[in-house]
Amino acid sequence: MKKTTWIETKRLILRDFAPGEWKFMHEYASDPEVVRYVPFGPNTVSQTKAYAKKVLATHRPKTRKDFPTAIFLKGENRIIGACRLNCLNSTQMDAGLGYVLNRRYWGYGYATEAAMALIHFGFSKLKLHRIWATCDTRNRASARVLEKAGMKREGLLRKNVFQKGAWRDSYLYAILESDPRSRH
Ligand SMILES: CC(C)(COP(=O)(O)OP(=O)(O)OC[C@H]1O[C@@H](n2cnc3c(N)ncnc32)[C@H](O)[C@@H]1OP(=O)(O)O)[C@@H](O)C(=O)NCCC(=O)NCCS
Repeated sequence: MKKTTWIETKRLILRDFAPGEWKFMHEYASDPEVVRYVPFGPNTVSQTKAYAKKVLATHRPKTRKDFPTAIFLKGENRIIGACRLNCLNSTQMDAGLGYVLNRRYWGYGYATEAAMALIHFGFSKLKLHRIWATCDTRNRASARVLEKAGMKREGLLRKNVFQKGAWRDSYLYAILESDPRSRH
């Protein structure tokens, strides 16, 4: 499998983070509004730097299973967020999907464009069978992104994530390679 990730869409490039790009990560990871419905953050600089180091380490393995990628906006020549496809349970040929955007770039369809591109990458290049995602039940924007990307809500996970001092409920979404939308 190719070591470098490079996925191009109409407006975006999903590519590996480069050393020094933690500053773009920190823009969103330190914003309390952005991290409201996720277990991490708001990050300190040292937390973001430590996470960026882990992200760079995912590029190394010969057979890569984890694809945390920067979302690069062509029109502005800058990183506006991140998304991730994580196939750590590769015997099941499935992967988890996630995304986060700098708040300045919400509401333009970028997360949906990135999610659809990663889903296509997962099925066509990684030959996955199933791609799943979870989101906080209160995170309506994220649930909408998953629906627009063709994923189906499969259920409710009760109090499965400890987040900011309390257990939270999550929706589980998934798309199968055999679903008609997987080919879009
Ligand atoms: C979730 C997130 C990535 C969405 O990014 P985005 O680029 O704004 O998403 P899109 O523009 O592709 O789609 C958002 C959809 O949600 C809808 N939406 C946004 N806020 C909403 C709300 N409060 N209630 C209902 N729908 C909402 C939008 O109207 C849009 O749907 P539409 O196209 O049918 O109008 C972004 O809000 C974010 O980074 N949030 C913080 C991190 C996060 O929660 N990540 C997901 C973890 S599971």
